[in-house]
Amino acid sequence: MSDPSATPTTFGARPGPTDEPAPRAVAARPDAVELRRVTKSYERGFRALDEIDLRIAQGEFVAVTGPSGCGKSTMLHLIAALDTPTSGSVLVDGQDLLTIHDLSGYRRNHVGLVFQLHNLLANQPIVANVEVVMFGTRTAVHERRARASELLAQVDLAGREHRLPTQLSGGERQRVAVARALANRPRLLLADEPTGSLDSASAARILALFKQVHATGVTVVLVTHDLSIAAAADRTIQLRDGKVAEEVRTKP
Ligand SMILES: Nc1ncnc2c1ncn2[C@@H]1O[C@H](COP(=O)(O)OP(=O)(O)O)[C@@H](O)[C@H]1O
Ligand SMILES: [Mg+2]
Repeated sequence: MSDPSATPTTFGARPGPTDEPAPRAVAARPDAVELRRVTKSYERGFRALDEIDLRIAQGEFVAVTGPSGCGKSTMLHLIAALDTPTSGSVLVDGQDLLTIHDLSGYRRNHVGLVFQLHNLLANQPIVANVEVVMFGTRTAVHERRARASELLAQVDLAGREHRLPTQLSGGERQRVAVARALANRPRLLLADEPTGSLDSASAARILALFKQVHATGVTVVLVTHDLSIAAAADRTIQLRDGKVAEEVRTKP
């Protein structure tokens, strides 16, 4: 796929009928993620997210912080289309997720997900854990194993493809989860406290991987309690009681 930002657009140069407004989406690339007045309510009207407006640019690295229960995971789940908002819209690349018919295709191909607990298949070697998410994609059967091995090498697990998850440390297991999340070349990497159960050295390695992925142009949304991890992002969004309490731009 060509990168629209690489060549100057000619849309502005072409004169159009004056009575017709120019199509909005062609002039600039839409945001990677946009939340428009998003509310998520649970029983008795409790709002886990309360009319949130938020834009995340293409290729941005955003950290989401805030106290336990403020709505961080809820927000990630809505962006990943694992759940739907009670009101408001979630747009990805300018498209409202409600209008996407093939949501499992969206989750599989567009989004990479990393959770605090990696959810690896315990009785499968790690190479199979990475391969499994390529089922149902265009990656040919014979290429899947090679790609899984290559991804494991990228996360410094070359030579350990046939280990079971239980034969690895917590940090190594989380690196398998990152490899798995990258298998289908997602445009959007969503991580929910991925370093939450790791020692600081393992956490630093996971963060280094996210930085590498971000450097390839992938949009990264990282939920974390750890302010030293959040400091690596371009922008930090602090949630409180389901609202954006503060935004801090860490990088220019
Ligand atoms: N399925 C659910 N049913 C009812 N309440 C929920 C559900 N999921 C989350 N909540 C509540 O919504 C709030 C936000 O949860 P969550 O997004 O998981 O917070 P965080 O990830 O910031 O710790 C919490 O008060 C939580 O108890
Ligand atoms: Mg959470």
